[in-house]
Amino acid sequence: MQKSKKIIFASHNKGKISEIKEILYPLGITVLSGEDIEIPEVEETGKTFEENAYIKALAAAKKQNLPCIADDSGLCVDAIGGKPGVYTARYAPNRNFEMGMDKLLKEIKETNSNNRAAHFACVIVLAYPNGNFKSFEGRVDGSIATQKTGKLGFGYDPIFIPTGFTRSFAEFDSDEKNKISHRGRALQKFIQYLTENEDVL
Ligand code: IMP
Repeated sequence: MQKSKKIIFASHNKGKISEIKEILYPLGITVLSGEDIEIPEVEETGKTFEENAYIKALAAAKKQNLPCIADDSGLCVDAIGGKPGVYTARYAPNRNFEMGMDKLLKEIKETNSNNRAAHFACVIVLAYPNGNFKSFEGRVDGSIATQKTGKLGFGYDPIFIPTGFTRSFAEFDSDEKNKISHRGRALQKFIQYLTENEDVL
């Protein structure tokens, strides 16, 4: 596939890091992240998932002088106009996702709408120190449960039920989640790109 067997993932988010490692490890790709090397903390000033993923990937690529990937992701809920969307991480008070889920369930309830449709979106950007980049998108549709269930995963997993299932993402083991999740789908596109292009890394 590619010459290098290492890729830098510009993140400090343990949930994301373990999902990405689990998907890339069987392909012989070692993932280095904020747990292993210095990844700059940057302000996510973009208005889209792609812009924010680019900001994160480029800052790390410049710092390490190597190609880096970053993911920006979020939960988009139809009944409240696609919120919290690109602001998902900041929607939770003090980044406490238990409180974030309670806030979201309350906000949906206050709309008096029966529409519980939602999707998780993810954009992975591969950026080079010179600013060049390539992006890969993934999405999973589903609905917002009326209460939290499950202990696995991270973030808003306990209230997201993917279409075709009756369980929340927090009741999926990681392998099962990675096969259908927004991040898993974006990563599959990234892997395809690596497979088709020898000199990516
Ligand atoms: P950011 O990409 O760092 O801006 O953070 C996105 C936020 O969206 C995360 O901190 C989680 O709260 C949420 N999120 C993204 N992907 C997932 C997922 O797979 N499960 C649950 N929550 C997620």
